[in-house]
Amino acid sequence: MHFSSLLALALAVPALLASSQTLDAAMTGTAGRKYFGTAADPGVLSDAAVAAVAASEFGAVTPENSMKWDATEASQDTFTLDTADALVEWAQTNSKLVRGHTLVWHSQLPAWVSALTDKDALTAALENHVTTLVKHFAGKIYAWDVVNEIFNEDGTFRDSVFYNVLGVDFVALAFRAAAAADPAAKLYINDYNLDYSGPKLEALISLVNDLIAADVPIHGIGSQAHLVAGASMIDTLATPLQALADTGLEVALTELDIRVPDPADEAALAGQQGDYEAAVGACVAVEKCVGVSVWGVSDKDSWIPDTFSGYGEGLLFDDAVEKKPAYEGAMAGMGA
Ligand code: XIL
Repeated sequence: MHFSSLLALALAVPALLASSQTLDAAMTGTAGRKYFGTAADPGVLSDAAVAAVAASEFGAVTPENSMKWDATEASQDTFTLDTADALVEWAQTNSKLVRGHTLVWHSQLPAWVSALTDKDALTAALENHVTTLVKHFAGKIYAWDVVNEIFNEDGTFRDSVFYNVLGVDFVALAFRAAAAADPAAKLYINDYNLDYSGPKLEALISLVNDLIAADVPIHGIGSQAHLVAGASMIDTLATPLQALADTGLEVALTELDIRVPDPADEAALAGQQGDYEAAVGACVAVEKCVGVSVWGVSDKDSWIPDTFSGYGEGLLFDDAVEKKPAYEGAMAGMGA
């Protein structure tokens, strides 16, 4: 063989290897972590293209809506778990980890829960909800987001029926009930705007330290990471993530998306590629970061346009479920 063709072959081999990688293979192989996951639900998986990418690229799945209180216990003590069951079955068939999401949250909460004013009644309702869900899925869930978004930006506790009626004790109550129902599941506290230092990050860390000191079964901290492209905090994301990990618990980026003004031009997508490299790289830089989950497979199903007016295109696959430059960015963040 001519030297130049040998050289061409030698150069082509790494490229071939890279193209056969998947996000999850890069995260579990090259980066040595547990998973690269996505949010999904049976609804979005009914699109064959989305299901194919979800099955091939990702190693974990988080139910985007199907395990929330309004979806699972719309009226008291009547549990509707078919949609969540279908997702967990899909995950098992396709060998995916499942991140259970979420047990105690002020949002997507049925009115009957918010209407409870009696301590004992709310305690019983909370324990019943947590116990029923966690028991039902026991053995099939890698980690549960036990409490979600319980802090305000200034570090005070969010105004919710749970905090208002039970005080901070609702947190320990929820974690203890979850641990009793599935001792093997990792139990997480999850929140957003943990992407920079400030009172919210500090308050969460101080609560986690208190919980650990009180022997409450808590094992992980989820940083949602709903980010805006070009934000300078993305380049320094490893610092707050390391601060969370310094509690001694494992951490994860649980709902990553990086939104851009819609429609995005080529330059915006290139910028987003760099942001994905930095955000995913932040997890890889923090030893206790076990994984990254993006908040959806394709831009066409993303919550972003409905929630942040004028923004969109925050994920790794476009409306046609094709890889975006951001995908290469995520790969580069994992050293792949
Ligand atoms: C969002 C879902 O993506 C939407 O489909 C739904 O309408 C509202 O909730 N933080 C969370 C997630 O913890 O559960 C939210 O998911 C996004 C913000």
